[in-house]
Amino acid sequence: MRIYMEADYDGMSRRAANLISAEVIRKPDCVLGLATGSTPVGTYKQMVAWHQHGDFSFKEVRSVNLDEYRGLAPTHDQSYRYFMQTNFFDHIDILPENTNVPDGLAADPEAECARYDQLIRSLGYADLQLLGMGRNGHIGFNEPGKNFVKETHVVDLAESTIDANARFFAARDDVPRQAFTMGIGCIMAARRILLLVSGADKADAAYNAFCGPITPECPGSILQLHNDVVLVGDKAALSKLVDAGVKVSE
Ligand code: GLP
Repeated sequence: MRIYMEADYDGMSRRAANLISAEVIRKPDCVLGLATGSTPVGTYKQMVAWHQHGDFSFKEVRSVNLDEYRGLAPTHDQSYRYFMQTNFFDHIDILPENTNVPDGLAADPEAECARYDQLIRSLGYADLQLLGMGRNGHIGFNEPGKNFVKETHVVDLAESTIDANARFFAARDDVPRQAFTMGIGCIMAARRILLLVSGADKADAAYNAFCGPITPECPGSILQLHNDVVLVGDKAALSKLVDAGVKVSE
């Protein structure tokens, strides 16, 4: 595993954008696994700028997103589909039919999970999976629990996740209680994983994920078993890993 430590959020975003762009340039028809949350916003912004500058194209890229709130329409301004459109897809030349996010309004959730797994399989899994991490160590919306769940499933969001995400909604009660998420199996099937962490409030999660035991109580810890993980973080988020003597590149 390679760990890049950047001075701040902008440095993290630039490094991440470089790594994703390199994948798109190397393999124009790559499958990108994409993530939402505040962490990758700067990464998308940087890639949009380079794309608009003419550096590379997304015309052949296919994408699969990690997760979606259950019950939110794609036009809801807190849905992850809306996030992807406004932060990334609307500003690049990716074909709309090549972008995939679980359908938050699916009438039959089990069928939607099966459809999404089949879709990811048919794409041959992600060449590069971008991930953020929750303060409780969640990846996608795979919350801490007794087991790692392999396939796409509906999760009950942890109270701490509802608290953390309430900042995006008018009221805490408006935060959906459930979400669709890609399972740990699909995430781990990606050929390369790029995990981003920013800010002091992610320092414990980053430390637990890479220095702690591999346990579903910290879903991100499963990444210790993947053979091509790149972790990019700012100093604040990586401080505990550095204190523990983990080697980082700058
Ligand atoms: C959200 C998303 C995750 C994201 C995480 C961290 O709930 N489901 O994909 O990585 O929580 O979010 P943020 O980047 O805003 O801290």
